[in-house]
Amino acid sequence: MKPLIIANWKMNPVSLEEAKSLFSALGEPTSGWNKRSVEVVICPPFAWLAEGRQQATEGGFTLGAQDVFYEDKGAFTGEISPEMLKSSNVDYVIIGHSERRKNFGETDEIVNKKIKKALEAGLKIIFCIGETEEERKAGKKNEVLQRQIQEGLKDVIDIKDVNVAYEPVWAIGTGNNCEVEETKETIEFIKKFVLKDTRVLYGGSVKSENSGNYVKDAGADGLLVGGASLDAEEFVKIVKSAE
Ligand code: PGA
Repeated sequence: MKPLIIANWKMNPVSLEEAKSLFSALGEPTSGWNKRSVEVVICPPFAWLAEGRQQATEGGFTLGAQDVFYEDKGAFTGEISPEMLKSSNVDYVIIGHSERRKNFGETDEIVNKKIKKALEAGLKIIFCIGETEEERKAGKKNEVLQRQIQEGLKDVIDIKDVNVAYEPVWAIGTGNNCEVEETKETIEFIKKFVLKDTRVLYGGSVKSENSGNYVKDAGADGLLVGGASLDAEEFVKIVKSAE
């Protein structure tokens, strides 16, 4: 399976013009990565998905959303359903990102509902898990990860379209990326709870200087890149390091 490199733009960039130029700068023809050896998924804010759709085919990348709701339709102001994403030709969706868990009160139960609904609609999932610094210091990392996986995937019968992203919360946006050796052990631990060919990715302060090590030495099947994905040149280096 090809490594999966995901750009999580979070709530950036702020204008359509900037989004347009970022999409085009990241595309395969402009920047020369090879889609035969790596799969690139760009997850812009909802507002820029339509623009991304226009550029995706030519750019050689796939489109993902950063969140989704667990109802089909109706009186849920501000929410977007899995069917809507599917119908907008979005293939992937990030679910359970720690920023959503922390800032928007998403529990394992909500994450589970979202995963089930999104799978039903035919979306591929980027299921984020990760321990906080406090949990890590208390020696609870594995316990937390196991709980997040088991609760998040509860009653999910077929997980072939689920990719797991291990993102230690303390490593996100801090410049303090997880050591390769520790990441390797954690990925091995996570793999006990998923299928043999489920992709397990690493995320948390990924940069071009460390990206290749996660894929080549830590056994990560891909990367979830936040901050560095907003710098086209840097992101392309990351993509190439995984080829
Ligand atoms: P970061 O974010 O690369 O900026 O640490 C990763 C993420 O939140 O997915």
